[in-house]
Amino acid sequence: MPDDVLMEISGLKKYYRSLNDSGRKTMVHAVDDVSFSIMRGETFGLVGESGCGKSTLGRTVLFLTPPTDGRVTFDGVELSERNIRPLRSRMQLIFQNPAGSLDPSMRIKDILNEALTAAGKKLKGEARRDAVTEILESVGLTANDGERFPHQFSGGQQQRISIARALAVKPDFLVCDEPISSLDVSYQSQIINLLEDLQQERGLTYLFIAHDLAVVRHISTRIGVMYCGKLMELGDADTLCSNPAHPYTKALLSSVPIPDPDAGAGRRRVTLKGEPPSLISPPSGCRFRQRCLYAEEICARQEPVLRDVGGGQLCACHMAERAAITA
Ligand SMILES: Nc1ncnc2c1ncn2[C@@H]1O[C@H](COP(=O)(O)OP(=O)(O)OP(=O)(O)O)[C@@H](O)[C@H]1O
Ligand code: SF4
Ligand SMILES: [Mg+2]
Repeated sequence: MPDDVLMEISGLKKYYRSLNDSGRKTMVHAVDDVSFSIMRGETFGLVGESGCGKSTLGRTVLFLTPPTDGRVTFDGVELSERNIRPLRSRMQLIFQNPAGSLDPSMRIKDILNEALTAAGKKLKGEARRDAVTEILESVGLTANDGERFPHQFSGGQQQRISIARALAVKPDFLVCDEPISSLDVSYQSQIINLLEDLQQERGLTYLFIAHDLAVVRHISTRIGVMYCGKLMELGDADTLCSNPAHPYTKALLSSVPIPDPDAGAGRRRVTLKGEPPSLISPPSGCRFRQRCLYAEEICARQEPVLRDVGGGQLCACHMAERAAITA
């Protein structure tokens, strides 16, 4: 494994036990054989429609829920339920809904103190107060804010607090699961700027999950596109957005306004019709085939593998070259 890989995800599967419509036990294939690497210091953006398995992937790579199969290697160590505890503080999760993740009965300074204690930081008195102030200031809040309760803050400030709590344990890696989607537009860019500044200052690595491709393009080094538990395309953020190879990526891109005149120029509008298929009994072959404009007989028979379609851009589509020509 090259030195600059921080996390390597290999053949990762996460199936949930569930009941089908007739009450029979069944499995939800939320993440189904996903492999990719996250480089040290990069922001890896993960996009896809609601329910495709993005949050499950984020939680599984952190071992907050154990994988059904596959491997996750973090900084050269293969994660397991036995060795995850001491590594926990190096890997943190930022949630979509900051209010729901902050205990309403605790003052902010106590929330941060709790995080410091959980990370084994044995600070007392003034040193502990200084540490809390330093964390608050690093996210644009003040020592006085530590005396207040979560409900006394705006959504944007609450997200700053949950970022502060994640940073308290000095992590290397953050999974940011839709960190701005519950916020007013006015706060969204502030939080994005804050995450970018913190990354620069602390050399953080992000797995950034979002629906909004424009935001993901802005913040990410590389982007992975997920559909129905699978990774469909992976590539450099600008290349993937300006020259998508997978029909699903094309459809996603054509359904969002990208604030870059070049990216949209000459692109045919592809409308994404219908709903994603069931994760309980996904279709044979390519999981996108029922919604795909380019589907042929082979697409039902054979599952396309993620392969290099040029310049390191990976795409899981039998017709990638043809789809690119007709775009
Ligand atoms: N604990 C669970 N038990 C059973 N099924 C689950 C569980 N958590 C998630 N799922 C199912 O797994 C699938 C993937 O869910 P997940 O939350 O990972 O999707 P997502 O891409 O993050 O969606 P969204 O964009 O809406 O947040 C969904 O069908 C969901 O219902
Ligand atoms: S493999 Fe076939 S169905 Fe799947 S995206 Fe490519 S053309 Fe469409
Ligand atoms: Mg989610």
